Amino acid sequence: MKPEIENLLNSQIKYEAGASMHYLAMASWADSNGYNGIAEFFYMHSEEERLHMTKLVKFVNERGGTAKVPALEAPKSEFKGVNELFEEFLNSEVFVTEKINEIIYECLQHKDYNTHNFMQWYVSEQLEEEAMARTM
Ligand code: FEO
Repeated sequence: MKPEIENLLNSQIKYEAGASMHYLAMASWADSNGYNGIAEFFYMHSEEERLHMTKLVKFVNERGGTAKVPALEAPKSEFKGVNELFEEFLNSEVFVTEKINEIIYECLQHKDYNTHNFMQWYVSEQLEEEAMARTM
């Protein structure tokens, strides 16, 4: 695996891990403020992001690279209200989509068609997640 692609995938591992923790903090805030349905949504979504992270970890290692499990800063834990949760959710998903597009671009520059193929799953997943976040 080319070092440039490996570095980008390791950064993506960190973004997915960060999203998972961010959504967990949002779930916890909603849970302790009486928004149980919203809490369940973010607990579930936090798990999904963890799976996105793990899928990348496995792929990097399978391709002969070294996946880096990142240190993370504590996520924000206080929110003004439910609207803020959903605004942050949308912003986070838009950010992740941008980062995935950057990886796709670099894969093509480096003719890494294996990673390009693998990343198509993330492209489809992001399309759905961003659309859902926008709707919500
Ligand atoms: Fe894994 Fe919602 O981005």
